[in-house]
Amino acid sequence: MELNEFALWVKNRVNSFMQARLDAFDADAPALKEAMSYGLILGGKRSRPLLVYATGKALGASDASLDYAAAAVECIHAYSLIHDDMPEMDNDELRRGHPTVHKKFGQATALLAGDALQTLGFEFASDKNSGLSGELRGELCAVLAKGAGFSGMCGGQAMDLDAEGKHIPLERLRVLHSKKTGALIRVAVAMGAVCADADEKTKAVLDEYAALTGLAFQVWDDVLDVIGDTAVIGKPAGSDEGLDKSTYPALMGLEEAKLYARQTAQKAQDKLSLLSLDTSILKAFAEFTVSRDH
Ligand code: IPE
Ligand code: IPE
Ligand code: MG
Ligand code: MG
Ligand code: MG
Repeated sequence: MELNEFALWVKNRVNSFMQARLDAFDADAPALKEAMSYGLILGGKRSRPLLVYATGKALGASDASLDYAAAAVECIHAYSLIHDDMPEMDNDELRRGHPTVHKKFGQATALLAGDALQTLGFEFASDKNSGLSGELRGELCAVLAKGAGFSGMCGGQAMDLDAEGKHIPLERLRVLHSKKTGALIRVAVAMGAVCADADEKTKAVLDEYAALTGLAFQVWDDVLDVIGDTAVIGKPAGSDEGLDKSTYPALMGLEEAKLYARQTAQKAQDKLSLLSLDTSILKAFAEFTVSRDH
């Protein structure tokens, strides 16, 4: 299957799976429910679910188990975006071509929507209906918690805020990017592998692929902030420069940043040659990461 066709299959599948769970919520807090649905379902590429399914399917995991893992990591990602856009962080008003959650629903509801999406992620990861053993569900939760928290996404976001208006060493920027974005990309691949109960050697190779792909993904996100079109990227172009963020284009120049992203994505693909699995979708995704326009 081609990457585009697979991406569409993933998007439809994970969206209806997540929507069904939201629909089942009671009617006690309608604004919160609507804000969660808006922040989770409306727009977005579903790149992390794609990595869960692509990894899991290559290793023989069941689609049902991958539904739960994919929804889990996408919930954490959606929460991270809602909070990332809030005035205390990047203060952005547009996301996925629509007003950001705090613009549409107010800051308190946006904060709570992020909080509730975070816990929903762990509900999915721990759900018995995935058909996974208690041990594997525990492993999914542990992987997700580690990648989302201090050592991963949140830690990276803190480094990002701390680096505003400063010149930081390139090595610190690499760590920052690897945490704030690379960590959840690694989580997606790792969760797919956990669903298949893959061996440690395979998991280690896949993790090297994911770390490199995740880094390339964020470097290209920085590039798009410079060269992207607001109407296409669905978020305000030039936001990073406006906030004097530490980014790859700011630190090494635009062309160098593009080259670095492409080289990193190529290294990611090279890692996969160590595996005797059908990794064509994972390879194509790494390539897409550094050629996408949104
Ligand atoms: C944007 O992520 C923020 C980063 C972590 C780079 P995506 O580019 O995956 O955003 P959506 O989910 O497709 O909107
Ligand atoms: C986002 O980085 C990282 C997150 C963990 C949400 P950015 O702040 O660059 O993401 P965008 O450009 O707003 O999507
Ligand atoms: Mg940010
Ligand atoms: Mg941002
Ligand atoms: Mg960005």
